Amino acid sequence: MTGSKNGQTFQRFGVEGAPLLAALHADAFQGGEIWDEASFVSLLGGAGTEALVISLDGHPAGFILTRTVLDETEILTLAVHPRFQRMGLGRRLVESILPKGKIFLEVSVSNRVAKKLYDASGFVQAGVRRGYYQDGSDAIVMISRI
Ligand SMILES: CC(C)(COP(=O)(O)OP(=O)(O)OC[C@H]1O[C@@H](n2cnc3c(N)ncnc32)[C@H](O)[C@@H]1OP(=O)(O)O)[C@@H](O)C(=O)NCCC(=O)NCCS
Repeated sequence: MTGSKNGQTFQRFGVEGAPLLAALHADAFQGGEIWDEASFVSLLGGAGTEALVISLDGHPAGFILTRTVLDETEILTLAVHPRFQRMGLGRRLVESILPKGKIFLEVSVSNRVAKKLYDASGFVQAGVRRGYYQDGSDAIVMISRI
């Protein structure tokens, strides 16, 4: 555990967290791109990749997955279980990684909710990646204000 506030606790996971992360991801991204357990094992086995899970009153509620290469950190994914959304947990996860320094991420042009969260957390648009997602949609690249 790395901290506790309002019943919220943070915990870092390595490859052993893959089943939990895959389940939370599937629940959050309903009908979206599937990241299965094997994908998480592979990601978490890579250098610089970290998973931080937030729990509420002991229930795992969401996580953020980041990869740091040299002085840049990418948010690979962010997910909060629908039951725990709109309670400030997504924002806490994003804010918890801000001390890492230079951060960037891709978010779908159609993901209004996530875009709003990143705007509110101080990220700014840096560009667009055309056809970035499997369904051919574009991604907005956002960077943290340093
Ligand atoms: C995006 C996601 C992680 C947000 O998590 P969350 O815990 O619900 O977010 P928070 O409660 O911390 O909300 C933070 C801000 O995001 C925005 N937001 C969150 N949910 C919203 C909604 N349903 N409608 C509009 N804005 C919303 C608001 O600006 C909110 O701040 P406010 O409550 O002060 O208005 C969550 O909706 C999710 O898992 N979605 C599916 C997966 C996904 O899209 N991940 C992001 C990939 S880049």
